[in-house]
Amino acid sequence: MKESIQKAKILVEAFPYIKQWFGRTVVVKYGGSTRSGENELRNTLQDIVLMKFVGMKPVVVHGGGKDITRATEKLGFRSQFIDGLRVTDLPTMKVVEKILGGKINKQLVDLIHALGGRAVGLSGKDGAMLQASRVKSRSGKDIGFVGKVSKVNAAVLQSLDREKFIPVIAPLGLGKDGHAYNVNADEAAGAIAGALKAEKLVYLTDVPGICQKQKDPKSLLSTIKAKEVSMLIKKGIISGGMIPKAQSCLLALKQGVHKTHIIDGTLPHALLLEIFTPQGIGTEIIP
Ligand SMILES: Nc1ncnc2c1ncn2[C@@H]1O[C@H](COP(=O)(O)OP(=O)(O)O)[C@@H](O)[C@H]1O
Ligand SMILES: [Mg+2]
Repeated sequence: MKESIQKAKILVEAFPYIKQWFGRTVVVKYGGSTRSGENELRNTLQDIVLMKFVGMKPVVVHGGGKDITRATEKLGFRSQFIDGLRVTDLPTMKVVEKILGGKINKQLVDLIHALGGRAVGLSGKDGAMLQASRVKSRSGKDIGFVGKVSKVNAAVLQSLDREKFIPVIAPLGLGKDGHAYNVNADEAAGAIAGALKAEKLVYLTDVPGICQKQKDPKSLLSTIKAKEVSMLIKKGIISGGMIPKAQSCLLALKQGVHKTHIIDGTLPHALLLEIFTPQGIGTEIIP
């Protein structure tokens, strides 16, 4: 009996948050590096299904860089690099589409269904949602089918929302030439959050958030103001895979997203902790 009362208490405590978040859009980017464990994936998707059932509107964007590297290596492709960037030629792009839009996307959709939710998997090409322009390397050289989001057409997401589906989006863009382009998943999530005027944009990754010292979780920066981001990048505190996240947070904030977060997706129920508790977790980047 005591235990049951405790459970009821937890529900009552969550009520103000459930009310606050009812009908609000939350874009969640699910990082490639957090896809290592089946349990982490299940926990995350369970949270997303729960969020949907209590009236929130989660939109999932996933990455998959590591799976792509593994797949191209298995096929014996030799990657060419220009100015440190991997060249995405046509055969590589075919693999990218297969892994992102096929394998990973369908895996997430299947698991959401197994957990009792209803999801539709799509890529940024569907409904011409993510329009991409070709990017060049730092020295102006061509690096193939690598794109930058130039425009978001959210109509397809609005139609899925009407029927209460959870959209699961693979970061592929549609070029003016009709080709598929590989776009950075962090950037795609930020652009989608901006276009939807989402309440929150959450990056799930494999570290507690942005840390002053990368390997020291105790140095976590829990709040960063937008104007501090460029200085943190310049100083090298934000580096590598954290750069597109931080930059996309800035872009999303500029487009009217209220709050952006970078949190540890390997922590059980990280999303629920962030949304349904007053203290939250990880790093928030605020206007
Ligand atoms: N200041 C920082 N604090 C924490 N991690 C950082 C920081 N700067 C760079 N990183 C790196 O960013 C990585 C997360 O980005 P990435 O590897 O691309 O993962 P994801 O799959 O989530 O996109 C971390 O594992 C860490 O190595
Ligand atoms: Mg990354």
